[in-house]
Amino acid sequence: MQSKTPSDSRTIMTDMVLPSETNPLNNLFGGELLARMDRAASIAARRHSRRITVTASVNHVAFNRSVPLGSVVTVEAAVSRAFKTSMEIFIDVWIEDRISGERVKANEAIYTFVAVDDTGTPTDVPKLEPESDLEKERFEAALRRKQLSLVLAGKLKPNEATELRALFMN
Ligand SMILES: CC(C)(COP(=O)(O)OP(=O)(O)OC[C@H]1O[C@@H](n2cnc3c(N)ncnc32)[C@H](O)[C@@H]1OP(=O)(O)O)[C@@H](O)C(=O)NCCC(=O)NCCS
Repeated sequence: MQSKTPSDSRTIMTDMVLPSETNPLNNLFGGELLARMDRAASIAARRHSRRITVTASVNHVAFNRSVPLGSVVTVEAAVSRAFKTSMEIFIDVWIEDRISGERVKANEAIYTFVAVDDTGTPTDVPKLEPESDLEKERFEAALRRKQLSLVLAGKLKPNEATELRALFMN
């Protein structure tokens, strides 16, 4: 299988925040943002693997900044590392200033998707070759995050999480 770069899967979705999508403070409802990120991440995973992909876990979400009603929101997703059948997807969320057009980073998240065949059985995905410094940084840390996610899900024993153990030994 030919390896791919993060640019091959990069998915950019821009949309507005409508009144039906806000909380009582007139900011974007967190669940709505999770759904938008899940959709963008799903497309990125599909572009990388060219398979059916399912969300296996949401590893990290940081709602650092609220997103007011009427904001123009851009969700940018790309595969940050591919393992055997799973892919880590990094999602950056930007808000556009109405007057200047300047983009400000609002939130970020990390999802894990698994490529499956028609019966739902996990299937192999192409390797990922990071290019930029940021892509390389995200790639390097992804195995640690995968092990943490598996430990939290009860699918990996803590003493088998070699990358995590190395982190705490240093
Ligand atoms: C995701 C799913 C396919 C994994 O199936 P499984 O039987 O656990 O399969 P495996 O143990 O072979 O794991 C497959 C891959 O997922 C990874 N994985 C499974 N659970 C994970 C988790 N919680 N965090 C990170 N990676 C995980 C495994 O490490 C493995 O990765 P690798 O092959 O790249 O090394 C299965 O649990 C599923 O179909 N879940 C429902 C998905 C869904 O419907 N999502 C939408 C929610 S509404």
